[in-house]
Amino acid sequence: MQSERFLIAQISDTHVRADDGGAAAKAMARAIAQAADYAVDLILLTGDLVNDARADEYAVLAAALQHPPAPIYLMPGNHDDRAQLRAHFPLARYLPMEGPLSYTIEDYPLRIVMLDQTVPGAVHGEITSAQADWLDQTLAAAPDRPTIVALHHPPFATHDLLFDKIGLHNGAAFAAVIARHPQVARVICGHHHRFAVGQAAHAPVVIAPSTSWAYGLALHDGQPIAPKTQEQPGWVLHAWTASGGLASHMIGL
Ligand SMILES: [Fe+2]
Repeated sequence: MQSERFLIAQISDTHVRADDGGAAAKAMARAIAQAADYAVDLILLTGDLVNDARADEYAVLAAALQHPPAPIYLMPGNHDDRAQLRAHFPLARYLPMEGPLSYTIEDYPLRIVMLDQTVPGAVHGEITSAQADWLDQTLAAAPDRPTIVALHHPPFATHDLLFDKIGLHNGAAFAAVIARHPQVARVICGHHHRFAVGQAAHAPVVIAPSTSWAYGLALHDGQPIAPKTQEQPGWVLHAWTASGGLASHMIGL
């Protein structure tokens, strides 16, 4: 960490495969190399780590993440499988042994709360009442520490015809918890494969793009739904200081 500045690389929707000639893993590696060039303090992977939740894909992912340039933390997306993720990262002792893979990262100037609100077997996300209680109690345990909450599914309406159907179905329940905890400085997520900014209660929400491909935006009937576009894949660099708060930059690959 340089002076009091704290840098986080948020890398999302890497969709690593075992049958693409290594393309997705190479894109992820480019993002990690860029993050290393920025001397980030921490790397967060916010879900859809692999494409089809297959063991061979997790093996490729684990091999690609063997020597990260900074501590790296993983969370699942709708393309992941909790059991496979646990099995392939036995050294990731921060992952709970059962149930949702939610946890906190406590060792840095910013507190990070990783909320797994994926629904096994489903594309959309949902925060259960148990997960909302966990989030509420976890945030209540450190009210004075500036905090980032990370989840996979965007908790706000993006206006996209597809992604609003397959986002966090009860974003209002999530926002109601965030509203009780003013120390939440930012909410970060992925899933949409395009950079966007929204709101959950007082907290700005940043959607990181995918490192693998970008989806176009469909606002009106007749527009192509989630076409793969030539828009820029990338990742997000979150830079924090105690005096200045957070700035979030999209970095193109
Ligand atoms: Fe994805």
